[in-house]
Amino acid sequence: MSELILLKLGGSVITDKTQPFTARLDVIERLAQEIKNAFTERGDDLRLIIGHGSGSFGHEVAARYQTHKGAVGPDSWLGFAEVAHAAAELNHIVVNALRRVGVPAIRFQPSASTRTRGEQLMYFETFPLKEALKHDLVPVIYGDVSVDAAQGMSIVSTEVLFDNLARELTPSRIILAGQVDGVYKADPNINPDAELIEDIDRTNWEEVETMLGGSHGTDVTGGMFTKVRDMYRLTLAMPPMQAMIMSAEEAGNVEAVLKGQMVSFGTLIN
Ligand code: IPE
Repeated sequence: MSELILLKLGGSVITDKTQPFTARLDVIERLAQEIKNAFTERGDDLRLIIGHGSGSFGHEVAARYQTHKGAVGPDSWLGFAEVAHAAAELNHIVVNALRRVGVPAIRFQPSASTRTRGEQLMYFETFPLKEALKHDLVPVIYGDVSVDAAQGMSIVSTEVLFDNLARELTPSRIILAGQVDGVYKADPNINPDAELIEDIDRTNWEEVETMLGGSHGTDVTGGMFTKVRDMYRLTLAMPPMQAMIMSAEEAGNVEAVLKGQMVSFGTLIN
């Protein structure tokens, strides 16, 4: 049986979070090649669903319109379209890069297939995605807007979509590849001596929970704390699934984990 991996390319690594609408094309192309290399080595032994964040595309616009808070003003629905467009623009860049190196990527637009209620994902139409996966394609999803039954609209992050997919598809691993090396005991941007936590599990969860703060920059979907907490809960619910939070900045990291190599970086959650 081949291994199924859900891989997120964080918005912080594929965009320049300090410059609106700026994709890091060199990084995206490198990551696409690393993904291709993993497929070349593993062939049918690897199945992959890719998700990516929105970084300086969607987050900027979503913060401007307060899309995560719902239909709060006369411009909210215009904002809904603007955020969806920004997220899709970045998605085109990512999918193009994957296809150029020969990864059979196919995009699934979350805003066309999800429904939330009070920012909680209530429905996600996954049948077409699962069919694509079954036929050796590589589905690509991304953080997007969603129609929300309680507040008009909301934002769905890649992690929330992955959570839903993981419960349906039981992957062996979820890999969240971003800009930081993993989960730190303190914010490494503020405290450069902050220590990396190598493993998060039942034995240290409570301690980790109290240590974590939010990520910096404009992030309307919760930052590091929510990410770690949700992944921890998911791995608790679905053993032996593991989640890993790691950096994609270092060339070769993503390739190594996709190939299933033993690695000594990142934070493993299980
Ligand atoms: C955010 O998605 C989606 C929008 C703001 C439209 P994610 O939460 O998955 O993205 P990043 O990784 O934080 O950019």
